[in-house]
Amino acid sequence: MMNEIKSVLVTEQEIKSKVKELGRQISRDYSGKDLLLVGILKGAAVFLADIMRAVTIPVSIDFMAVSSYGAGVQTSGEVRVVKDLDYPIRDKHILIIEDILDSGYTLRYIMSLMSTANPASAAVCALLDKPSRRAAPIECKYPAITIPDEFVVGYGMDYAEHFRNLPYVGILEPWVYSR
Ligand code: IMP
Ligand code: MG
Repeated sequence: MMNEIKSVLVTEQEIKSKVKELGRQISRDYSGKDLLLVGILKGAAVFLADIMRAVTIPVSIDFMAVSSYGAGVQTSGEVRVVKDLDYPIRDKHILIIEDILDSGYTLRYIMSLMSTANPASAAVCALLDKPSRRAAPIECKYPAITIPDEFVVGYGMDYAEHFRNLPYVGILEPWVYSR
């Protein structure tokens, strides 16, 4: 383990079985429907890549990039679209794929954008959830892994663009971001 990582919070094996379970549930719930998975860049890129292969029904993917964090560890509350979807989502079933649900501001903004585009449905699938920090209420269609109020990295998630390639979710040593 790297010395910037205090401890492993979710192991590679735990992620694998969660992804498998989610893939099964999504495939069952959206069977016969026109499903579009929307990954929120960059943090959810790894999760989306795994989820789409755990889904056994036909599916399309797209990406959206929003920015709120900069290089810090706290959400600013201010969210803006950096990359929009490639195609209209009218009449499609949208499942937003997100790495982690923290304050909820990011997903609240994304869900409000979705609702103006008239999809057949729009729901959220997040891997991790820090409920203790929620400021905007968000409904997750699929149960996320609940984690304590710690800044985590790995499995797509970063601190200042580092650590995204770790295969597990780890707690960052506070000295890394208080430097
Ligand atoms: P929210 O708007 O506060 O819910 O923040 C959600 C976004 O912040 C996520 O998509 C992540 O990119 C980022 N984020 C929140 N908590 C963490 C964390 O512990 N590590 C890395 N990124 C995080
Ligand atoms: Mg993110």
